[in-house]
Amino acid sequence: MDINNKDLQFNNMPQHIAIIMDGNGRWAKKRLLPRTMGHREGMKSIKRIVKACMELEVQVLTVYAFSTENWRRPQNEVDYLMDLLIEFLRKELQEMHENGICIKILGDYKSLPRKCVDGIEEALHLTSGNQKMTFNLAINYGSRTEILQAVKKLGQEIRDSRIDIDNLTEEVFSSYLYTDSIPDPDLLIRTAGELRLSNFLLWQIAYTELWITDVTWPEFTRDHLLQAIGEYQQRDRRFGGLSHQKQEGQNVKSKNT
Ligand code: FPP
Repeated sequence: MDINNKDLQFNNMPQHIAIIMDGNGRWAKKRLLPRTMGHREGMKSIKRIVKACMELEVQVLTVYAFSTENWRRPQNEVDYLMDLLIEFLRKELQEMHENGICIKILGDYKSLPRKCVDGIEEALHLTSGNQKMTFNLAINYGSRTEILQAVKKLGQEIRDSRIDIDNLTEEVFSSYLYTDSIPDPDLLIRTAGELRLSNFLLWQIAYTELWITDVTWPEFTRDHLLQAIGEYQQRDRRFGGLSHQKQEGQNVKSKNT
């Protein structure tokens, strides 16, 4: 492992890394390949980054694999992505389970084709007791839908007097999201250079550090991950307060805004 070369601080690892895996199509186009080949290559990157996160003892990894908006893509691409999901689970499930990875789904997976639902439920049941790392696959996920369904469920519970509106806190609200009991991401990585959030974890990333690279997802390696974590560790996370040094009255200038 060449982690030490990158000077990572092991007492300051991001607990939760979320990734917007973008650029599969551009990767393929550049190589005169069909877009679907970009997704296939992207699947290999997922495997690589899961492995790296395991070694780095990152506790939660979340990847955005299919959004509620991705249904607008051509049918053959949607079908291909659904098949890749099944292939991914078929190929990787056993090893992930043996490595103590707990697989979770963020999103409305029950609306996916039957074969996907079956594969997902097998993965959920098999790995539910694992504790080494949580791997969240965001599938048929959209943050606005997630927030709206939380509001609806909460509204129902308030109407039925199961929750007193005066006791509604951020923690209670969070527990109605797909990410219930998962800590918020510390670091959000987006590949392929776009500067937007694409309806991903909008509630959960309120204080997440963003790291955006021009590298496309199929090209994203462990070294890119280490670079992202290294830069994350240089950030001064103030959560709206003052920097640690300033609080201690040392009047040290903060590096970041
Ligand atoms: C964005 O690239 C990527 C996606 C919408 C899908 C992500 C899927 C994978 C990484 C494949 C593995 C999938 C599963 C389900 C395990 P894009 O197609 O928008 O790229 P572009 O912006 O360059 O066109």
